[in-house]
Amino acid sequence: MKLLVTGGAGYIGSIITEELLKGNHEVIVFDNLSKGHSAAVPPGAKLIRGDLLNQDDIEAVFAHHRIEAVIHMAALALVGESVMNPRAYYRNNVEAGLRLLNAMVDAEVPRIVFSSTAAVYGEPTKQPVEEQDPTSPTNPYGQTKLGFEEALYWYSKAYGVQYTSLRYFNAAGASRDHGEMHLPETHLIPAILQAAAGKREYVEIYGDDYATIDGTCIRDYIHVVDLAAAHILALESKENDIFNLGCGGAGYSVRQVLNIAKEVTGRGIPHRVVARRSGDPSVLIASSDRIKRQLGWRPLHQDLHKMIESAWVWMKSFPDGYPA
Ligand code: UFG
Repeated sequence: MKLLVTGGAGYIGSIITEELLKGNHEVIVFDNLSKGHSAAVPPGAKLIRGDLLNQDDIEAVFAHHRIEAVIHMAALALVGESVMNPRAYYRNNVEAGLRLLNAMVDAEVPRIVFSSTAAVYGEPTKQPVEEQDPTSPTNPYGQTKLGFEEALYWYSKAYGVQYTSLRYFNAAGASRDHGEMHLPETHLIPAILQAAAGKREYVEIYGDDYATIDGTCIRDYIHVVDLAAAHILALESKENDIFNLGCGGAGYSVRQVLNIAKEVTGRGIPHRVVARRSGDPSVLIASSDRIKRQLGWRPLHQDLHKMIESAWVWMKSFPDGYPA
């Protein structure tokens, strides 16, 4: 298929692009490079630098290329930042997304796979979380992703756009050539690995007074390559649907992640407990039964040691991240 990947120069987008190319798809990456890196775009994909907020940029892509489906990853994606700056989140995640959808409708692009998030559930009423559970985001990031999902529902009804929304839990790990590099880095695993590598003085643990086994937040980590595989299955489906993507089980607390990273790296990881981060739910664990049942998805790399190890190997191969 000829595919457009918005945000394909980012961490998850670059690895999805890599997997799509392996599957002989033709990929155009559309990215404004505000967070992504041009060097992260795998060779074999075409990079178009553009902004979804510029209707002309995206319309030109559809006018010049016969795109069969879109994987929409471009977004702002930081819980804490969204609480401080909701305006940027509504603009980039809702307004820009609607421009993309409108351009798709006008150009008759039939299908979209959307990168959604566990943050749509807020503080869940039960674990593991299932897709039909109530959505009640505790931060603008989750709220704006939910807003776009709602638009997908109504656009599918009115204009026949087919969609799959994938609600990611916590993506982790790396492929050989692509990994996680945000500036500044706020995500737990890369922050821990930076501390292990001596590139950060210490890691902050955001609160140890949650009602969990050791007081720190629990998350469901999923290997980014398994996440990528789900997009390929979703592209092949013709149904409109919403799926969770995580590994389930008990998840891992922040302290457990820290301890596993110590084992993987063989290094001490300086850390300090600080106040809770606003907008953080205490526990987020996925039930991914629906995607397993309906699309036959199976996570192949469920061991957090292996996820962290792949991230560590990548960080050592690319000690300065991607070149500017
Ligand atoms: N954490 C720390 N210290 C840090 C960074 C994070 O203690 O320096 C904690 C957070 O409080 C949280 C956990 O580690 O409990 C994971 O935090 P991340 O920032 O790595 O990830 P989030 O859980 O906040 O968010 C990620 C994605 C979101 C997605 C969410 C769903 O970035 O897009 O997972 O679970 F919505």
